[in-house]
Amino acid sequence: MKTPALILIALLALSAASSSTVVIAAAAPAKPAPMTVEFFEPTAPEAGDVPTVGDRAINSIGYSLVVESRSTVANQGAKAAIAKCHLKSVPATGAVLQGVPRVTAYKRTSLRIRNPANAPDAAEEAALQRVQKELEAGNSAPKIMVQRVSHADGSKEWRIYRPVAVLAQCVTCHGPEDKIAEDVRAELKALYPDDKAIGYAAGEWRGLIRVTVAPK
Ligand code: HEC
Repeated sequence: MKTPALILIALLALSAASSSTVVIAAAAPAKPAPMTVEFFEPTAPEAGDVPTVGDRAINSIGYSLVVESRSTVANQGAKAAIAKCHLKSVPATGAVLQGVPRVTAYKRTSLRIRNPANAPDAAEEAALQRVQKELEAGNSAPKIMVQRVSHADGSKEWRIYRPVAVLAQCVTCHGPEDKIAEDVRAELKALYPDDKAIGYAAGEWRGLIRVTVAPK
């Protein structure tokens, strides 16, 4: 069995200071409420065991993502797999993972999205930009990012993020157009007319898996 660690790009701790605060006024008119975003080191005392719980949950989600997309493509072909892939049967809120009630939400997002429903909110955008900056500077992507979001209504949310890389098997549906089978390409075009998630090569950074973890 392949290890789930394969989907992760290799990793260096962020060199930034242990906590930095960014106030983001969301640009999209649909979400006018500003949110405050703070990043923490995974070992920051404020975060408690949130990073550990989140990291474990992402391992399990990432493993399912890899195995599910591989086995569905193998069993049903890539075109049929389009409708099934990516944990679509898993609720995105509520108890997301069996036995891990503290994980209350998960999401996959990217700077180049396929489904507009996966578009980043302001806090996710900040996390995406952080990875992008590291990669542009020639550094490894952070293995894990720990973020506390303060919402306009005063509520706070802890989020854990992990960057995911494109594996060879992902190119079937996210690769350059000429690497995607014609029936798959046609189906993707029909379902996602504004698809930006093609043109990837194996090894490239694809996006983030994010979970929300309730503090203890
Ligand atoms: C059978 C085709 C298929 C394969 C194989 C596949 N994907 Fe996807 N991918 C999709 C589809 C379809 C969506 C849009 C899902 C949705 O509607 O939420 C998507 C969406 C995503 C997203 C969410 C952001 C966005 O663009 O909407 C990420 C991240 C992602 N894929 C990563 C991967 C990775 C990593 C792999 C390999 C392990 C992979 N995908 C393999 C079809 C595929």
